[in-house]
Amino acid sequence: AGSGKFFVGGNWKCNGTKDSISKLISDLNSAKLEPDVDVVVAPPFVYIDQVKNSITDRIEISAQNSWVGKGGAFTGEISVEQLKDLGSKWVILGHSERRHVIGEKDEFIGKKAAYALSEGLGVIACIGELLEEREAGKTFDVLFQQLKAYADVVPSWDNIVIAYEPVWAIGTGKVASPEQAQEVHVALRDWLKNNVSAEVASKTRIIYGGSVNGANSSELAKKEDIDGFLVGGASLKGPEFATIVNSVT
Ligand code: G3P
Repeated sequence: AGSGKFFVGGNWKCNGTKDSISKLISDLNSAKLEPDVDVVVAPPFVYIDQVKNSITDRIEISAQNSWVGKGGAFTGEISVEQLKDLGSKWVILGHSERRHVIGEKDEFIGKKAAYALSEGLGVIACIGELLEEREAGKTFDVLFQQLKAYADVVPSWDNIVIAYEPVWAIGTGKVASPEQAQEVHVALRDWLKNNVSAEVASKTRIIYGGSVNGANSSELAKKEDIDGFLVGGASLKGPEFATIVNSVT
């Protein structure tokens, strides 16, 4: 972990029911969480209100996506204004499942980030390479291009957390080694330094996601440039998520 405040997000993805979420919230409410960590959970849209109304104020709420502009005639979409109305402080954008399953492109994701930030939401800006891209030696090209799509349009980096999620590590149980993650985080910070500013490079938190669990998080958290985690599967279990939150050393 670096000098910025450790940040741990739980991305619940498209999981849960009113009952399972109520149990998860009660586990989270009774968990002991290190005070010096930002803790955020991202429920499915339809449960944000339930979560906001029952979870401790200690934990902030994120959405998992948002519409690219002001709400209106966009059937099936959810606007930034609506997310704020429900008490969301954050939105996850550019997740690999939206890039590779739904087909969202860099430019569209960048626009979403710029709009959400302009309305005061924090953005968890995801990037990540596919296995074939890593094997072809294209990891950094891919990541820098994804990062540039944000950098080209965002008004400021004050409210952005970068989430590095190698696609081959998501939901596979195949976590990046602490060295692999650290190597990428350093490269991302260098890119920010050379293309945005030294200040943004040193202040922006870069978190890791991909098969993080209660057993591997503390080794990862020891690395200087890993400023937190974005957790999928293991965030659906309250006690394990708390262990991950508390893994900062
Ligand atoms: O956004 C979190 C994520 O994609 C990682 O998922 O299940 O591998 O922790 P998981």
